[in-house]
This record gives sequence, structure tokens and C-alpha cells, in this order.
Amino acid sequence: MKTVVTIADLREALAPARDRGDSVGLVPTMGAFHDGHGSLFRAAREECDTVVVSLFVNPAQFEKDVDLDAYPGDLEADMAFAAEAGVDLLFTPSAAELYPPGFQTWVEVEELGRRLEGEHRPGHFRGVATVCLKLLNLVQPTRAYFGQKDAQQVAVLRRMIDDLELELPLRVLPTVRDLDGLAFSSRNARLTPADRRLALALPRALETRDLEAARAELAGLDVDYVELVDLDPPVLAAAVRVGSTRLIDNVVLEKEKP
Ligand code: PAJ
Repeated sequence: MKTVVTIADLREALAPARDRGDSVGLVPTMGAFHDGHGSLFRAAREECDTVVVSLFVNPAQFEKDVDLDAYPGDLEADMAFAAEAGVDLLFTPSAAELYPPGFQTWVEVEELGRRLEGEHRPGHFRGVATVCLKLLNLVQPTRAYFGQKDAQQVAVLRRMIDDLELELPLRVLPTVRDLDGLAFSSRNARLTPADRRLALALPRALETRDLEAARAELAGLDVDYVELVDLDPPVLAAAVRVGSTRLIDNVVLEKEKP
């Protein structure tokens, strides 16, 4: 696996794959890799000639600096994880290069980006959509890989892709859960054992697939929202705060399309 930091090095590293006419899979991430990321890497590895993973903790999608600063990360461990999963190219750009002085162009997916997560994290999806469009333009992948864990993120990006005529297929992979049912998340690293026990109410609530039962299950927690959401596919989604950690999760209410 090759690791590149600058846009110039990314272009150079991708040139042979383009010359060969390789199919290129892009998996955008913010690092602190876990098995959720691993399943995206492996799917891309199976389906594409060249697998590119971007690792960039995107400041534009964090509302508060404390949240950004507390985001976990261990580049050495992530490099080993990605190499092991068969990633060909790891792109770890700097914020200085992606958002240089004078940067002022943003992608706003208006309605979808303001509900649910967007309501509780103003500006979040503007940051996500903008950085994803930049990454898609830089890598020009054949397909891009995302997790159903962030169902609204997928919906926002699909909308952007349609609205801006990107003609890019998205591959959306099912949520990967730890043995106790908690969906893998980079933020889980910040949970104390006691927090984690409390957090397990979240998957328990969602697996009822029933709004009222889920509400009752989450009664003791600090709940940002729990809602039936008419996405494609429809989901029961929730966000809760446990200690200083905010967790989101959802379950699909219909059989996922193959
Ligand atoms: P990050 O949280 O690192 O997630 C990267 C990808 O992994 C996302 O598509 C996310 O949905 C997926 N993922 C995370 N946890 C998962 C799990 N338990 N099971 C399956 N997939 C999972 O999402 C982001 O980064 C950023 O917003 C990004 C798209 C990179 C833009 O900055």
C-alpha cells in the first residue's frame, strides 16, 4: 500500500491505474479504522482493480472544535489496518491543502441536510457534501463506498450526485456491529465501560423496529431524536448522547435491496 499526502502525489500515484483503465473504488473515511470501515475496504477490494481510501478528519463537518480535537486517530494503526484489508492507496491530505486561504465554495443539500443530524449539527452535511465532492473530483472513482450506519449521509450524497449530474454509482454496505450489538464507530473508543453499558440501549431500542417501543427503551438516555425516516430504504434512526459522546445508529425497516 502506498500512502500519499499531497494532491500532486495522489494524481501521480493514480496515473498508472488510469492508463491501465482500472476500475477505481474510493472509500472516504476519517480514520480510526474499525470493522465497519473494514467491510467497505473489502467490498471495494473485491469489486475494483484499484482501491483508494481517503483519511481526512474534515474540519468543515464539525461544528465545535472540541469535537474535532477529540476525534480519535492513530495513523500508524490505520495504515496497518488498511494495508491488511488490501487497500492500494491511502490518501491523507492536509486541511491546509483542501481548504486553502480564500476557499469559499460549498455544497448545500438544503432540505435533506437540515433534518435529523443536520438539525442537531448545523453545517454538518454542508461539510460532508463539500469534502466528498472534492474527493470524488480528485480521485474520479468508478464507484464510491459508504456505510448504511450513516443513512442520512448516504441520502444527502445521493441527492448531491443526482442534482449535480455526477453519474457515480454508490455502494452502500450494511452496518457492522460489535458482538454486544453496538454499531462500530470511531467514537466508541471514548466510551467508558459504564458508558458502553448505557449505550447498548441504542441498538436494543432500534432492533424493536417500533417507534414507541424504541422511545421507551431510550427513556433513560439523553436522546437527540428517534424517528421513522422515509429514506431509501426507510429506517428507524436515533441519536443519543452518552457522557460526552454522541452516537447515531439506525435499522433498515424493509429488506435491503440486493
Ligand atoms: P467515517 O465516520 O470514518 O466513516 C467512513 C465510512 O464508514 C462511512 O461511509 C460510514 O458510514 C462507514 N461506517 C462507519 N461505521 C460503520 C459501521 N459500523 N458499519 C458500516 N459502515 C460504517 O462518514 C465519514 O467518515 C465522513 O462523514 C466522510 C464520509 C468520510 C466525509 O468526511
